[in-house]
Amino acid sequence: MNNFTVMNHPLISHKLSILRHKDTGGKEFRELVSEIAMLICYEATRDMKTTPVDIPTPLMTAKCEMITTEKPVLVPILRAGLGMVDGMLTILPSAKIGHIGMCRNHETLEPEQYYCNLPADISERTVFVLDPMLATGGSLAAAISILKEKGAKKIKVLSIVGAQVGVDKVLGAHPDVHVYLGVLDDCLNEKGYILPGLGDAGDRLFGTE
Ligand code: PRP
Ligand code: URA
Repeated sequence: MNNFTVMNHPLISHKLSILRHKDTGGKEFRELVSEIAMLICYEATRDMKTTPVDIPTPLMTAKCEMITTEKPVLVPILRAGLGMVDGMLTILPSAKIGHIGMCRNHETLEPEQYYCNLPADISERTVFVLDPMLATGGSLAAAISILKEKGAKKIKVLSIVGAQVGVDKVLGAHPDVHVYLGVLDDCLNEKGYILPGLGDAGDRLFGTE
């Protein structure tokens, strides 16, 4: 599949190992989610267009390239996607930010939308959807449908831990989207948690249970 990228990089592997550990506390967990988001962002922005510019160095004029026409928008899926925003903004400081609130029903595992606030010009922007966990894929597939209803055309999903069943669901429903994943885990348990996974990302980010 040329629209599915699993990050294969020692920095991400190392950071993920600490992220998964049950004794990693909230401060370190938040820092790692942010850092991994930055690293995935590097790959997810590889196709950004650049414009030639002349830059006066102290010695002469250099023929350079700058990103001048790209208009990114970050869309974290609440809550856990919020943990990826700061890292993404470090790399893409001019990005606008929209929000979609999604909560998985604990019995049915179906996503329920409770909030949506997106920039009016979303159809002109590259949308980076952020959610650290891609389990059944229901939340991300539903969020992408909402984004398309609001006019989004170019959509990239950035997720940290995923399961194949969820990736298949997202790309089956939205084959025009590119999914970037930090790591592909083994399976889901009966409650829809990713195994081995890292537990509940929202709870670990925000200290809830
Ligand atoms: C988690 C996670 C994803 C979703 C993944 O959110 O952040 O949004 O579950 O599961 P899925 O792929 O099976 O849909 P959750 O619903 O727990 O809400 P939270 O972020 O507020 O904790
Ligand atoms: N949401 C999480 O936070 N963790 C999982 O393993 C699955 C869904």
